[in-house]
Amino acid sequence: MKLLVINGPNINMVGIREPGIYGSESYQALLDLCQKTCDEHQVLVEFYQSNHEGALVDRIQEAYGKIDGIVINPAAYTHTSIAILDALKAVGIPAVEVHISKVESREAFRQISYPGLACFKTITGEGIQGYKHAIEILIEKLKEKES
Ligand code: DQA
Repeated sequence: MKLLVINGPNINMVGIREPGIYGSESYQALLDLCQKTCDEHQVLVEFYQSNHEGALVDRIQEAYGKIDGIVINPAAYTHTSIAILDALKAVGIPAVEVHISKVESREAFRQISYPGLACFKTITGEGIQGYKHAIEILIEKLKEKES
């Protein structure tokens, strides 16, 4: 089983950007947590971060036939990107959406998630621990599918 953790714009700045909203743990800490979680479950994982919408679409397309499950935080593209939604639908890979902050308690413009429409679960407001949670839910789902 191989997972892909995709992060959108400015997630590489976590720990530096708005720590009151996104916490003080670094992007590296986020990656380490995901790696550790996957190691514990003996699952392979790849990581991808980009600030560019098309690059995120390209990476999702490349996952076709190679990746079993996706954890995605599309960041600001969450609220605008039909292209990322369509890419997730195109590849049909089971996906979980994660947001570090509690988006539903924030500005009106953050209330819609286009990519979320192609995800079977959304996790918000758990900080970087939300990624661990997302990975565990995804693994459980994929194991169910296998059996
Ligand atoms: C975010 C929430 C988005 O609204 C925002 O644009 C981000 C991060 C989160 O993880 O809480 O960049 O996806």
